[in-house]
Amino acid sequence: MRVILFTGKGGVGKTSLSTATALACARRGKKTIVLSTDAAHSLGDVLQTTVGNEAVQVEKNLWAQEVSVHAELRRNWGRVQKYLTQFLASQGYQEAVAEELAVVPGMEDLFALIKLLEIRDGGEFDVAIIDCAPTGSTLQLLGLADVLQWYMEKFYDIEKKIALAIKPIVERVIKAPMPDKDVYANIEKIYDRVIAVRDLLTDPAHSSIRLVTNPEKIVLQETQRAHTYLSLFGYPIDAVMANRVLPAAAGDGYFKGWVERQQEYIDQIERSFAPLPILQTPMFAEEMLGLDMLAEMANVAYGDRDPSDVLWTGRPFKLDGSPGNYDMVLALPGVEKDEVDLWAKDEELIISIGNYQRHLILPRALDEHFVTRARLTDGYFHIHFAKEA
Ligand SMILES: Nc1ncnc2c1ncn2[C@@H]1O[C@H](COP(=O)(O)OP(=O)(O)OP(=O)(O)O)[C@@H](O)[C@H]1O
Ligand SMILES: [Mg+2]
Repeated sequence: MRVILFTGKGGVGKTSLSTATALACARRGKKTIVLSTDAAHSLGDVLQTTVGNEAVQVEKNLWAQEVSVHAELRRNWGRVQKYLTQFLASQGYQEAVAEELAVVPGMEDLFALIKLLEIRDGGEFDVAIIDCAPTGSTLQLLGLADVLQWYMEKFYDIEKKIALAIKPIVERVIKAPMPDKDVYANIEKIYDRVIAVRDLLTDPAHSSIRLVTNPEKIVLQETQRAHTYLSLFGYPIDAVMANRVLPAAAGDGYFKGWVERQQEYIDQIERSFAPLPILQTPMFAEEMLGLDMLAEMANVAYGDRDPSDVLWTGRPFKLDGSPGNYDMVLALPGVEKDEVDLWAKDEELIISIGNYQRHLILPRALDEHFVTRARLTDGYFHIHFAKEA
């Protein structure tokens, strides 16, 4: 199954472009589902039909589904949440407050994304298009998978064994419930799913991320950040969608300044994201509502391209070489030398840019290897590993 995920700042056109893309895929004969994982759903409004937590058919080959974020949270996190609520209540928190505290912000979005695994495993669809919540939370949760993996691989087994062993004693002394086997089983299940969804979304053979942007300063800055961080975490971006571009004809009167300024930002978008394809869509004369407008939007955006194709295949991450001599290449677009830090420790590589850190658990092949050189050129971070003589 082909997966295409649309992300971008609030209001840039993610929902419009994801439904337009889904419609275009469906009309090319692919059985397609468009899935909204944003708690503030608007698929139904755009498609002008009722869409809910179950997939509904919109037209031949096109289905839509708005994932119930709360239902997914309960389903995935229920057992852990119950435990945490009990624990917090035992510490003197009111039940209602404890229930709130037992959910990490951003987590709902992550569980909504997990729904994608079911759709893939169901084997019914050729294409799944995901309409995400605005960039901030998407990035947070995509990074969460790495952090979780790091924690689980390093500490989890030990902590679980200790906790289960001392549970009866601790419960008597501190009068607070300790997690039982079910809680741990729940955590392990979530972990497996989070890693599976991360693995699916970072697999360039199946998945692509499309960055939706507008030719405006603040939006563009956020798109550049998203581009960098998604690359850091190995997510394959295959296009930038520049939406709401004012047509030249709009530039005669009141909007003259806007049209000129937008052209400067379009040039900047081309420079910033090359060699990624930049697909432009104009500011239409009306809101994007209904299938006719969406079909027109997809037509303008993709032209002769098949929207379900992988539109660009640059590899965000690559490891080449042979024992004693490996080269790792990581795409880090838009990053300056002095922004990047690198540490290697045991079997782990930590790369940090600004507030984001990627903990890379190195492949076994790199056991007993050391980082000998690292350099950043043309948006790529080259890290060389050698074996001690
Ligand atoms: N190219 C366009 N021409 C005209 N109107 C547009 C265009 N793209 C989007 N819109 C309108 O802009 C508004 C926001 O678009 P949309 O809902 O697709 O953005 P979004 O990124 O999904 O927003 P949110 O972050 O709130 O989910 C909608 O009213 C939509 O109809
Ligand atoms: Mg939206």
